[in-house]
Amino acid sequence: MSDTSTAIQRHHHITLCVGGAQEDYDFHTKVLGLKSVKKTALYDGDVPIYHLYYGNDTGHESTLVTSFPMRQSGRVGRRGTNQTKVLMLSVPDTALDYWRRRLGDCGFDVTETEVFGEKRLRFCHPCGIEYELVGVVNDDRPAHSAGPVPAEVGVHGTHGITVSVRSLDLSADFMTAGWSGRLTQEEGDRARFEVGEGGSGRIVDFVAEPQLDQAGWMYGEGIVHHTAFQVADYDVQSAVKSHLEGIGFTDVSERKDRGYFESIYVRTPGGALFEATVSKPEGFLIDEPYEELGTKFQVPPQFAGQREFLISYLEPLEY
Ligand SMILES: [Fe+2]
Repeated sequence: MSDTSTAIQRHHHITLCVGGAQEDYDFHTKVLGLKSVKKTALYDGDVPIYHLYYGNDTGHESTLVTSFPMRQSGRVGRRGTNQTKVLMLSVPDTALDYWRRRLGDCGFDVTETEVFGEKRLRFCHPCGIEYELVGVVNDDRPAHSAGPVPAEVGVHGTHGITVSVRSLDLSADFMTAGWSGRLTQEEGDRARFEVGEGGSGRIVDFVAEPQLDQAGWMYGEGIVHHTAFQVADYDVQSAVKSHLEGIGFTDVSERKDRGYFESIYVRTPGGALFEATVSKPEGFLIDEPYEELGTKFQVPPQFAGQREFLISYLEPLEY
């Protein structure tokens, strides 16, 4: 039997519901300098929605930010508590000045701040989702090597997320009993949990905001949709599902094939959606070679044979 107390290793990807596709694409590739590692569509539902993946050269686990551009649907997400609200990305601590200038030159309002002893730059994605570039020492995840941002100051990957909650206690129960986490810092109304070896790419922060309305779960512009975490293999993933169900989180999904990885999903107390995923051995190279990674739209299985329809239906995207 797998040891579920260490099952959750680190982030795999963080998925957002953003506004326009082009706006999101330009923000992640031209401003933040991430690589477009896959262009496909959401694997659920019968109305096509883009699914755009950004990361480092190969789209390695924990470098990935992904988005569902929602403007075409006309739906706007409901922000509130019990929802992931901030996406933190790791940059070299010596690169914060570079990023402050770059973001300012690109027209973003940037605030310098410090949380849990970490210096960071706070700004917003064009659709309003809060981002923080956190200065990290010795993050060995290689940044995208061929983008507009020099690799030596580039984004190494995810650093953490901040989840707004009504109750820190309920989230602590979930993180420690269900999600292999350990409490590593507390500061006022904030608590930090880390999984796996801890550190950048393995952080889940919570902030108590009971005064806010309950956030919505529906796909809609301007909200973080879910955070995925890596587990070692399908046996561990099955053990996580069984363990969560055994301690009371009975709404864990069945395993779903997402093309590049296979995932289970669970609603954490209140409603922030977490995912435990196993990468396929081929990863993002399963449907296109490294030299062409992210260059061609990949049709999701439920729309097989309908490439022309998808291309004509989805917003035009220049890249
Ligand atoms: Fe996901």
